[in-house]
Amino acid sequence: MSELNLILLGPPGSGKGTQGETLQTDLDLPYYATGDILRAAVRDKTELGSSAKEFMDRGDFVPDDVIVGVIAERVGQHEAEDGFILDGFPRTVPQAEALNEKMAEMRRRLTAAVLIEVAEEEVVRRLGGRRTCSNGHIFHVEFDPPEKEGICDVCDEPMGVRDDDKPEVIRHRMTQFAEKTLPLIGYYEERGLLERIDGDKAPDEVAEDIRGLLATLRMEEEA
Ligand code: AP5
Repeated sequence: MSELNLILLGPPGSGKGTQGETLQTDLDLPYYATGDILRAAVRDKTELGSSAKEFMDRGDFVPDDVIVGVIAERVGQHEAEDGFILDGFPRTVPQAEALNEKMAEMRRRLTAAVLIEVAEEEVVRRLGGRRTCSNGHIFHVEFDPPEKEGICDVCDEPMGVRDDDKPEVIRHRMTQFAEKTLPLIGYYEERGLLERIDGDKAPDEVAEDIRGLLATLRMEEEA
């Protein structure tokens, strides 16, 4: 495949970040996760962080004009020439339109929008037990515990609960997803780009299914 420009779509807690980490290693492509980028900006007290913080704390989406420029700049970088993996962007139709414009400007096209589908009750269990470190590595107290309790296996940093993983904020994030992101499923389906993955399986099985999907796309492109 000449280049692989992938979007990961799915509700909060569906496993986009977990699969994004694996894909990044498998494919050796830059991985841009808007949630991680925004949390780092909040931590570093940048201008982007101060515009985003109040929205994120409430579980609201940050305004489209705040996030679109961040991603347009990244996908246009030299390191993304062979492709990229986007996690958490686009998550509204105007963001999808902005990405289309950027891709057209670069004379490139999206390969697929991979939708990780998970039942709502499973999402609640996953987010309730999620632990992350400041570098964005993801664990779960029950499904994927780190070797040393409270310490990241990858970078040895302490781990904690994300500010937006409080039950009332999780509920609001789910509502935002239903109102603003679900329309993207039809949007990418109409353009023949939507690929559905069953995210209710174990992380390794989900990763294997995504590898299978990418192999199929590759074969279709070569046929
Ligand atoms: P973001 O960080 O992107 O949050 P999200 O989309 O709500 O997704 P999550 O990170 O909560 O879940 P995930 O799907 O990555 O699941 P994970 O792999 O961690 O965004 C945060 C905020 O930033 C937004 O609310 C918004 O304010 C703002 N924002 C970001 N992008 C924006 C945009 N484009 N526009 C506007 N605002 C934006 O997995 C969850 C847990 O489950 C983990 O503990 C994991 O170990 C476990 N797990 C994963 N897979 C499995 C499995 N298969 N089986 C069992 N457990 C599993």
